[in-house]
Amino acid sequence: MRNYRRRLVGSVGFVPTMGYLHDGHLALVHRAARENAHTVVSIFVNPAQFAPGEDFERYPRDEVRDLALLREAGVSAVYLPAAADMYPRGYQTYVDVERITRTLEGSARPGHFRGVTTVVLKLINAVEPDRVYFGRKDAQQLRVIERMARDLDLATEIVRCEIMREPDGLALSSRNVYLSGEQRAAAPVLYNALQEARVAFDDGERDADRLRFLVAECLNREPLAEIEYVSLADDRSLEEIEGRVRRPALLSIVVRFGHTRLLDNLELS
Ligand code: PAJ
Repeated sequence: MRNYRRRLVGSVGFVPTMGYLHDGHLALVHRAARENAHTVVSIFVNPAQFAPGEDFERYPRDEVRDLALLREAGVSAVYLPAAADMYPRGYQTYVDVERITRTLEGSARPGHFRGVTTVVLKLINAVEPDRVYFGRKDAQQLRVIERMARDLDLATEIVRCEIMREPDGLALSSRNVYLSGEQRAAAPVLYNALQEARVAFDDGERDADRLRFLVAECLNREPLAEIEYVSLADDRSLEEIEGRVRRPALLSIVVRFGHTRLLDNLELS
């Protein structure tokens, strides 16, 4: 990968993914292609970010389709490392971003972000991109990677990209294929609940408990939806806000439909 990269002339944009591509991934790819001379995409289902018992084995995969989509999108290269090359025998080095990985997804999935930051740094080292593109869909992941980039003096620019949604508001996700027809029909409740908070916030509501309550109340109206958490956190520290919202905040929710965890979020500022 690095030998190939060093022959490229002009800027390189990089989009790391775990494959099973949808229009959310492709929006990142198109943006990278607009802003750079070359675009590199990686597909790697990273075992280090899945805990035992999570969906690593059954994570959806379709390499043939992914490669066809990326060819159509005009990318310069697709990097598909093997797990044995990323984590060979004797592997023992991990990147641990400390405080902001301990809340939210980090507390629900201990060790998850250690796997994410480790693989993202390894991928960046292989691709040596000028810019790397991440979706706001995974809001905490994005902030953790930005923190790592600052703390470890990465030469790469981290670019935030908008959340792509289905027409009914459901955020695109590779895991949406796990939903039954009935669950899929109910899933827009995440977006609707966030919009209720958006409207209240725009009308001047600043009480953190009240905003969290509005979201939970909306989610609770959907019998198939089981709330894992509703968080209104400081956008920088990702610590829960007590009292009034005075600084940029991140409203993020995780809702389970059966075994499937759906994430969504909204930035309030
Ligand atoms: P994956 O879930 O495949 O997502 C790859 C990128 O696509 C991430 O930056 C994610 O935020 C973005 N993305 C996913 N759904 C999106 C949507 N609906 N709208 C906009 N962007 C969306 O995130 C990962 O893979 C992995 O953790 C990875 C960073 C590749 C490290 O293994």
